[in-house]
Amino acid sequence: MSFHTAWQSPSNIALVKYWGKTHPQLPTNPSLSMTLDACRTETSVEIIPGGGKLQVWVDGVDTPSFVPKVAAFFKAIAERHPWTAHFDWRIQTHNTFPHSSGIASSASGMSALALCVVSLAREFQERIPAKDDLREASVLARLGSGSASRSVYGGWVVWGRTPSVPGSNQEWAHPYPDAIDPVFSDFRDTVLLVDVGQKAVSSTVGHGLMNGHPFAEARFATAHDNLAAFQPILSSGDVGSFLALAEREALMLHGLMMASNPPFVLMKPETLAILEKIQNARRDGLEVGFTLDAGANVHVLYPARAEQTVREFVTTSLSTHCKDGACIHDRVGTGPQQLTKPKLLL
Ligand code: DP6
Repeated sequence: MSFHTAWQSPSNIALVKYWGKTHPQLPTNPSLSMTLDACRTETSVEIIPGGGKLQVWVDGVDTPSFVPKVAAFFKAIAERHPWTAHFDWRIQTHNTFPHSSGIASSASGMSALALCVVSLAREFQERIPAKDDLREASVLARLGSGSASRSVYGGWVVWGRTPSVPGSNQEWAHPYPDAIDPVFSDFRDTVLLVDVGQKAVSSTVGHGLMNGHPFAEARFATAHDNLAAFQPILSSGDVGSFLALAEREALMLHGLMMASNPPFVLMKPETLAILEKIQNARRDGLEVGFTLDAGANVHVLYPARAEQTVREFVTTSLSTHCKDGACIHDRVGTGPQQLTKPKLLL
């Protein structure tokens, strides 16, 4: 007797960055993100009564190296979902984006797994601790990876308590509640793959750098301010102010890393070349800007109405700075989808 379910869940890109956390994976400042569309993880789970054994297949290949991360996830959710320890788990997972792309797969991967767990819990009529299933999935995804809490919802998502967003919460993310101008509902993000190697600093180490960071208090206050500053920008459709604020946030993240102890410079010369070209292009009237993750890749941000010109700009001017010219065209997406409702397999 076994039970099966499957979900696909997208990655997301933060405009106000989560950087710094306390136990149990609670953010030291609020974050705001847009959920992506093309960059997704598809995860299928089969469970049989047992003692909590884990097996993970990545792209159809048994991959024991993934087990510790998944085991850490189950350990973190054990208190909320003790039933999970009474099954053996066979997890098959596949990313729509290349593994070595440098795109964080933890947000899409952990949210897809969390959604599978909640669907199965619902099937067994287990008590769901949170008010609704998506909220519960967001809590569980957060325990796996903080940014994954936001991938449970489509569109614009906020995570972390902040005075400008009533109801905002440390434990789970939720859809951004204020008005969003249509220009931002289908905003574009082309990811330029500058560095496709192993991350130079893991996110756990990175967040830890904010403990005792000389600029920590100023950073946390700025994150609250920036999140509040996005509110009139998002509701009015002010693309110019949006891009300028997104860039300030991204550069602040990297400034924090450069001022950490030990310091990290995660931008590459190619990253800087791209940033300069983007800022020059905007000065020349193109509606284009950037944000960055904790790495060298660049997320090129632009509205749908500028798609043709920005894509040309990417092809003729930016892709030369990418590894093998590689980029991924993405956009704001509608959030996760259940692929298979929980099923009893005999
Ligand atoms: C720079 O969510 O990957 O992308 O909670 O340790 O798994 P863990 O960290 P993670 O950190 C993401 C950091 C960021 C900013 C963001 O996505 O908000």
